[in-house]
Amino acid sequence: MRILSGIQPSGTLHIGNYFGMIKKMIESQDEGELFAFVASYHALTSVKEKKVLQENIFNVAVNFLSLGMDPEKSTFWIQSDVPEVLELYWILSNHTPMGLLERAHSYKDKTARGIASNHGLLSYPVLMAADILLFDSNIVPVGKDQIQHVEIARDIANTFNNNYGDILVMPESKIDEEVATVPGTDGAKMSKSYGNTIDMFGSKKTIKKQVMKITTDSKELDEVKEWENCNIYTLCKLFMTEQELLDLQKRYATPGEGYGHFKLTLLDKINEYFEPYAQKREYYLNNPKEVKDILAKGAKKAQVVAQKKLKIIRDAVGLNY
Ligand code: ADP
Ligand code: TRP
Repeated sequence: MRILSGIQPSGTLHIGNYFGMIKKMIESQDEGELFAFVASYHALTSVKEKKVLQENIFNVAVNFLSLGMDPEKSTFWIQSDVPEVLELYWILSNHTPMGLLERAHSYKDKTARGIASNHGLLSYPVLMAADILLFDSNIVPVGKDQIQHVEIARDIANTFNNNYGDILVMPESKIDEEVATVPGTDGAKMSKSYGNTIDMFGSKKTIKKQVMKITTDSKELDEVKEWENCNIYTLCKLFMTEQELLDLQKRYATPGEGYGHFKLTLLDKINEYFEPYAQKREYYLNNPKEVKDILAKGAKKAQVVAQKKLKIIRDAVGLNY
């Protein structure tokens, strides 16, 4: 079973990204053959500065390697290092009705928010379909916002197969209903757009500042506090064992401590959890050549699969004469 996932190279990662997506992706390496890539071509739809894009691509690769992406077990590459996907993108474009793209929620949301419409933005799902179909992906783990894009990939595959025969593998999206939305420091969904994040790899000082910002009610030290619906407690659930949570509940129920104390407990847990990954990250940041070698090897592995499939597709449509 082949699992495929793409990650846009967006800036600083927060613990919502980690528990919402990255952790699952790393774990899926034990469930099947994972193909994962940094969606650098897709990022061109939003990042228009050369330096920013370069840094984002490198950083997201370093972060994933530090968090457990295993380049021996899985195939991990930068999308634009395997440009074969663009050929399939063009071929598939000819089997993609305009209406399908115009109806895409993500496209409609972006243009409604005032982002200027251009061809890249509109055809984004065709490139995503090419990513998925070029690698015979069976399962595509995605967040809710990306389900429609996988549906579009299935529609395109269907149209193509009806015309040329059973060539493209029909992918299925996989959503993890278990993964709850991680709240930010203000209780709303943690998101870099809301300024309510807790970084995974920030300096100790930054993370402390972010944790101290978590909003709570205004109960005093000598009052009993409620752990249900408390933002600190909800975040602690991501890091603590059952026993540790029971102990924490007792502390809420016992007057004498304030929310500041609970925040420091959470802070310790966050630092402890990410410390080993942060060390690995420091190592990769200081050894960029090693990172680039790993990515080059990943691209080579992916390219072998891509070229083989592309040959079959070129044959099928009549480009090989
Ligand atoms: P942001 O909202 O900060 O811009 P992205 O949209 O770049 O985050 O999200 C990247 C991935 O992380 C997506 O797969 C998304 O499902 C996941 N993710 C982001 N924020 C959260 C959150 N608060 N809780 C759970 N998952 C999240
Ligand atoms: N569009 C996806 C996102 O923004 C990233 C992505 C690009 C992707 N190509 C993909 C995800 C192929 C899964 C499969 O999250």
